[in-house]
Amino acid sequence: MKLQDMPLFFSIPETLFILLMETIITSLFYDNTMRKLGRQGKMKALVTGGAGFIGSHLVERLMGEGVDVRVLDNFSVGSRENLEAVASHIELVEGDVRDYKLMCESMRGIEVVFHQAALCSVAQSVEDPKNTNAVNIGGTLNVLLAARDEGVRRVVYASSCSVYGDTTALTKQETQIPAPASPYAVTKLAGELYCRNFYQLFGLQTFSLRYFNVFGPRQVQDSSYTGVIPRFINTMLRGESPVICGDGKQSRDFVYIDNVVEANLLAMKAKAGFGETYNIACGQRTTVLQLVGYLSALLKVAIQPVYRQPQPGDVRHSKADISKAKAVLGYRPNTDLLVGLERTIELCQNHVRSL
Ligand SMILES: NC(=O)c1ccc[n+]([C@@H]2O[C@H](COP(=O)([O-])OP(=O)(O)OC[C@H]3O[C@@H](n4cnc5c(N)ncnc54)[C@H](O)[C@@H]3O)[C@@H](O)[C@H]2O)c1
Repeated sequence: MKLQDMPLFFSIPETLFILLMETIITSLFYDNTMRKLGRQGKMKALVTGGAGFIGSHLVERLMGEGVDVRVLDNFSVGSRENLEAVASHIELVEGDVRDYKLMCESMRGIEVVFHQAALCSVAQSVEDPKNTNAVNIGGTLNVLLAARDEGVRRVVYASSCSVYGDTTALTKQETQIPAPASPYAVTKLAGELYCRNFYQLFGLQTFSLRYFNVFGPRQVQDSSYTGVIPRFINTMLRGESPVICGDGKQSRDFVYIDNVVEANLLAMKAKAGFGETYNIACGQRTTVLQLVGYLSALLKVAIQPVYRQPQPGDVRHSKADISKAKAVLGYRPNTDLLVGLERTIELCQNHVRSL
């Protein structure tokens, strides 16, 4: 059976067996292609949303790996400041992923696209689903079409654990039937389906990485649980109470930014597993109350949280099974939660001192 004939939901052992066979066959051809690319010069990558939180870290790491980087961002959320350290070494395109012509121009000479650009706020997507739909689904379709039309080899797509929604299973596996609980989550799932589709129909090598709750420096502190860690740290550094939406017993699989960047690089180098989705997390569950406890200990403060209404579209528990990413991509979450928290605190404290 060919990978493209596979139904959407296989059991994990079946999927891993098929991917293993594909790895062996593809690697025979892949090594040759990579050798040719190496001879032709540096790898060229486009990072959409490269001025954002995850995108800007990815840009820095790609440059460290000797990759030529072009960034496309409309700066609706991201900032030039995020790219300060690398500004003179990258090509910067200011524009919108909804602009097909611009996307085609931005992809000339590009081998790999890391598609991070999106409207990420769950709350905003509930308020204005049309806008989130246009950027996240329309924009992703544009990215894939332009990649196909400009002969890009691979697209690594930033998906989200939100596609699982409030499923009863505590541990989320890629084989579970998605149940998106917000318009944002619907758009992320649609992007995955398009990625799979473009591999099946056009042979575009796509990877959908389902990030869980990513945290680290430069994260926008919005009102949803994506920005909860820097928001709590900054609040507690000011000696104020962190605000918890709900009872605080909701849990998340928090993953430090370096792990997510590493997963993207592994997807860039992977020899097989195209068209598939992968959970990218630590594989551990932490409640929001536990998080406040860890932060209190690390910051050496004793501040009681205050409680507000739960947010609409918020899921109760989220913990990843990361065995597929481990087996196929060789992914390992090398930075654990506490180390990640220490690093984020250090950077937040430096930022406060510099003000
Ligand atoms: N941060 C997380 O915890 C998390 C979790 C799951 C998935 N994700 C996904 O990872 C990706 C990056 O997230 P992030 O946390 O870095 O968010 P971010 O908001 O910091 O970055 C998104 C970037 O996209 C840009 N952008 C938005 N609309 C655009 C448009 N129409 N055209 C061009 N650029 C546009 C923004 O200016 C911003 O720089 C997103 O696709 C998001 O859905 C993030």
